[in-house]
Formats: sequence, structure tokens, C-alpha cells
Amino acid sequence: MSASMPSQGRPWPELRAEMLALKGRDLDWRGGRHAAYVWHAWDDVEEVAREAYALFMTENGLGMRVFPSLQEMESAVVQMVAALAEGGPEVSGHMTSGGTESIFLATKAARDWARATHPAITTPEIVAPFSAHPAVNKAAHLLGMRVLRVPTGEDFRADAAALAAAVSPETVMLYGSAPAYSLGVIDDIGALARLAAERGLWLHVDACVGGILAPFVRRLGYPVPAFGFSHPGVTSLSADVHKSGFAAKGASVVLFRDAAHQEFSRYTFTGWPTGSYSTLTFTGTRPGGAIAAAYAVMNYLGEDGYLRIAGAAMRARDRFIAGLAAIPGVHVWGEPDLWAVAYGVRDADITAVTREMVRRGWAVGPVKEPPGIHLMITPVHEPVIDAYLVDLRASIDAVRGGTATAEGRQAAY
Ligand SMILES: Cc1ncc(COP(=O)(O)O)c(C=O)c1O
Repeated sequence: MSASMPSQGRPWPELRAEMLALKGRDLDWRGGRHAAYVWHAWDDVEEVAREAYALFMTENGLGMRVFPSLQEMESAVVQMVAALAEGGPEVSGHMTSGGTESIFLATKAARDWARATHPAITTPEIVAPFSAHPAVNKAAHLLGMRVLRVPTGEDFRADAAALAAAVSPETVMLYGSAPAYSLGVIDDIGALARLAAERGLWLHVDACVGGILAPFVRRLGYPVPAFGFSHPGVTSLSADVHKSGFAAKGASVVLFRDAAHQEFSRYTFTGWPTGSYSTLTFTGTRPGGAIAAAYAVMNYLGEDGYLRIAGAAMRARDRFIAGLAAIPGVHVWGEPDLWAVAYGVRDADITAVTREMVRRGWAVGPVKEPPGIHLMITPVHEPVIDAYLVDLRASIDAVRGGTATAEGRQAAY
């Protein structure tokens, strides 16, 4: 592949063929070989996202006055997500490029809210469970804040009493997940919300993974606890439409209890030739395609579509958990509430098992603490769950029997 710009442009068919060949080296996610990264339900959903994205690929969400189309679609997506997050009409929010940006904006809003309401605080702190996604540390790092990570309880969920004990006069924000990435367990948001309300703290709920689909899992009869604005202590919530909303990448929603809290995520600058530059997002230019694809996919799927996706993912999850239980020494960590599962293996080195699975063509999500392997189950995994379990059993047998290869790649998260 040429690394320098060609002096003369190359024909698209040639480039296309080259790029498809490159793609051929990637992991076969259509065959369900991935443990994370890709949220694919069915080809028709992907096609809708692709066409909608292409329709608005050139438009820019930074210029909502020139593109009222994007404003209307963004507002519709935000309202749909707010309803899923048990929010009333006062809840307001906006779309962002992904979970990390949504969490960054909620954290920035919490910091600026604290500056306005608690001016004595010098180094604003966030108290979070050990299971919180690193995006909160990234945000705190950029925002001059500190994160205190507190061990989770025996059930691997946030331990509200331990969080309460870690709160100091500098604390401005508490953090909970619905669910946490690694083990797929939903924190007791009710307990965290009560603590936040009692201490006058901001509570952010990271529902990046569960925010869109978890309510449909609940409607199928699974015991999914409420994790949104029905708890009065919840101040902000992030939900990624490019994860369990199955839209194109570059689409998340950050929601705030009301417009006043949302305003704290704004950045305004006036000291340059063009005058006032003011955005609620971290990014300036925003891809119109991501907004359009989110709007199209959510409407294309509708409630019945998301129920079908939830059904497929949970059926696969249930079969997976049952299959794991049938392999001696394998156990699920915690009690996963949704479609993300992690398991451990007794009497076998987990790194060696991971290596064996990778050798058999699976991208494996490692978990360090507790030691395990993670799988984010989506509908595309449903047909391959049994094959995964067969390979897992063979991998464990190879490790226990001493026939495993000592070398090989370990796929990262
Ligand atoms: C719970 C959780 N929060 C936040 C994020 C960050 O989202 P993104 O990668 O879209 O920035 C992830 C990503 O996997 C996540 O699992």
C-alpha cells in the first residue's frame, strides 16, 4: 500500500478493491467472532444506517441554523432516549460523538456546577466504583479533577456505603454504571441516587452500554432495575446510540435533569475575530451522518425492533450462561443483568485459555480483576454461541492437558 499521496488521483474502482482487500484482513465480526467493538443486529438495520448516514454525510451538526434537518432529528433522538431513561419533559440533552464525549461533558458540567454552587472547592473530586469505565478518568484528567475509585461489593456492584465513606468536602460527583463494561452488572442506582441527594452531589449514570436496549430487556420479563431519572438523585446520564441502539458509530446522547444543568456543559469563547463561539459539545464539527443514522435506525427499528434485538441477545446470553455452567470449573462472575457476561476458569491459567481461544479465531475480551474473559453478546452471536462453547471447552482442555501452545497473540478489549 502506498504511503505517500499519489501525484495523480487513482480510480475509485481500483481503490475500492484495495480497501475491500484490506477489510478482508479484519476480524470476521459478521460471523460473531468479536467480543466487543461492533454492534450489528441484522443486515437490513446496517443498510438503513448506511443510507441515512450517506444522505447527510456532508452536513455539519455544528451549524444547526443552516441545517434545521439535523436539529429536528437530533431533538427526536434525544427525546426518544430521554423517554427510555425514564425522563420527564424537563430532561434535556444533546447528541455527542460517543460515550467518552458524553461522559466528558457530564463531568465538565458537574465541575462547572460545583464551581458555581460550592466555590470553596479547589480540587473537585469524583467518587466512583472500581468498575467505572476509564472515560471518567480521562475526563477528570483533562478537567483538573480527581477520581477516587472505591472497591465494589461482593456482588461486583458499586458499594454505596463504601462510596459514602469516601465522600469528602471536595467531592462533587458520584458515578454509577448501567451496566459496567467488564462484568455487565448494573449498579444500585437507587442507592447512589439517595446518597447523592442526601449529600447534595451530582450523580452521573453511565448507561452507555445499556441505555437504549436495557428497557426492552426489562419488557421481556428480565429483572432489570430502574437506572434513570425516575430516581430523583440522578443528575445526568449517558446512553450510546452507537452501542445498544445499533446505529452508526459517532452517536451518543448525554442527558441532564433539566436545561439549567445542561448549560454547565457549554463552552463559550468570544476573544477571536469571529465573535462568539459557543457549543454544548466537546467537538466543533459534528457529522450530520451520525445524527441521521441514529434517527433512521431508531425509527426503523421502533419498539418492536428493539424487542426483537433484546430477545435475540438475551436468548443467546441465556444459552451461553447455561453452556458455561456445563464446562467443569467455569463460572460466571457476578450476576450479569444484560447481555454482557464475563466468566472465570478454575484450575486453568486464564491467559493461556485466552491465547487458545484467539488461536481458534475468537477475539477475546480479557478481564484482569477478577481474572476472566468477557463477551458482549449481540444478535450476530446467537448462531455461533455453541461453536464458541465447543472451542472454549477444547481450549480449557488443552491448557489443563498441557497441550496448549505457549505462544500467540492475546486479543485486547
Ligand atoms: C460502560 C461504558 N462507558 C463508556 C464507554 C465509552 O464509550 P465510547 O467508546 O463510545 O467512547 C464504554 C465503551 O465501551 C463503556 O462500555
